[in-house]
Amino acid sequence: MADPKKLFIKTYGCQMNVYDSERMAEALGASGYVTTERVEDADMILLNTCHIREKAAEKVYSELGRFKPLKTANPDLKIGVAGCVAQAEGEEIMRRQPLVDLVVGPQTYHRLPAMEAAVRAGARAVDTDFPEEDKFEHLPKAPRAKRAPAAFLTVQEGCDKFCAFCVVPYTRGAEVSRPVERVLREARDLVERGVREITLLGQNVNAYHGEGAGGTWGLARLIRELAKIEGLARIRFTTSHPNDMEDDLIAAHGDEPKLMPYLHLPVQSGSDRILKAMARKHTAEQYLRLIDRLRAARPDLLLSGDFIVGFPGETDQDFEDTLALVREVGYGQAYSFKYSARPGTPAAEKTPVPDDVASDRLHRLQALLSDQQRAAQEAMVGREVSVLFEKPGRMAGQMVGKSDYLHAVHVTDPCAQTGQIARVRITRSGPNSLAGELV
Ligand code: SAH
Ligand code: SF4
Ligand code: F3S
Repeated sequence: MADPKKLFIKTYGCQMNVYDSERMAEALGASGYVTTERVEDADMILLNTCHIREKAAEKVYSELGRFKPLKTANPDLKIGVAGCVAQAEGEEIMRRQPLVDLVVGPQTYHRLPAMEAAVRAGARAVDTDFPEEDKFEHLPKAPRAKRAPAAFLTVQEGCDKFCAFCVVPYTRGAEVSRPVERVLREARDLVERGVREITLLGQNVNAYHGEGAGGTWGLARLIRELAKIEGLARIRFTTSHPNDMEDDLIAAHGDEPKLMPYLHLPVQSGSDRILKAMARKHTAEQYLRLIDRLRAARPDLLLSGDFIVGFPGETDQDFEDTLALVREVGYGQAYSFKYSARPGTPAAEKTPVPDDVASDRLHRLQALLSDQQRAAQEAMVGREVSVLFEKPGRMAGQMVGKSDYLHAVHVTDPCAQTGQIARVRITRSGPNSLAGELV
């Protein structure tokens, strides 16, 4: 048999892209590819791209430019662009960068084997459809390899919310939920392959409404059903929109032991004027009261969020309102970004905030958020948490895992094994992780 062809995939953007990259590798696995970590060995390079901010999208072109010598050295090397830049720019990518042989959007990568064959035969292939069929049901079957202990599982995709700044509704398409049975089947398969923790993914995962026994199921019901799978120890979900945080999901945080006490719930801004301009369709007060209800259900819930500073029209007072909201909530962890105008979105038409003003606000917000993160980590010192060990650490004898609260935890102990969930007493808090000892 001929040597297998080698596939190099580089992933940008969100966790759904991480999930998709794994699925693409499996799809091309059926065409005889194995993945490689070394780009210079590749017969096919795939960039799975992100369009969310200008910097993310531009990175793709600078990366592509670097492949030129590789293609000169190996004329059989094929280069593909997948993901959200592929969806947003389509054929334009090939005009800007003639090295590219293949462009595939997030909803058509189940067609990669046929596209790869066409490209091998000398064609260029572009597919950015939004097809009727469920791509997950049309992926070629991959061999059932053992998996790492923590896995992602996409249950919902796309977005109908059209926040004024965001490209996702255009790149991922309309909201679609996978049917309950298909999600359960994939979850059981993951568990049989060694997975102990599943993070359910969706652009608006809490808007999940999949067809199941007796009608349409919401996310809480899906989680409760998944929790019945023996061997599955932990469930998480991301990303949620505040307006889809329904009562039964809040309740599940209180009474479903397998649902971990961590929630990523972006608010973007603490100013009602800006929230309105962003088309988020809720106020700061509504968000704060939602946090109260979540904490009433699960007092130790660790909250995470996303923030945008410098949205068009944001004044100093609007920004102060964001700082005030952050102080009131107290986040365990959060992401913050300078607004980036995205082509085709309504906000891109508006006058931007001067860049130095936006940068200054970003620094101030990040300083506050990192203080909160540090405080949340330090509050763990002396406490006992459960840790799922995921892989060996950089130091000899060290294991790294995640606590229930999603903190990275290092433990140096020969008894700590990959895939094991152990009680750990936290002894120290570092910049981005905790250290502890087995109890
Ligand atoms: N579905 C998720 C968002 C995915 S994008 C949600 O609704 O929460 C992840 C984050 O990127 C967003 O929460 C937002 O904070 C940020 N983001 C999105 N568009 C942006 C833009 N044009 N400029 C800067 N940040 C942006
Ligand atoms: Fe983008 Fe808003 Fe949809 Fe999130 S909810 S993906 S920010 S449009
Ligand atoms: Fe980026 Fe697309 Fe995810 S734009 S954040 S890769 S949905």
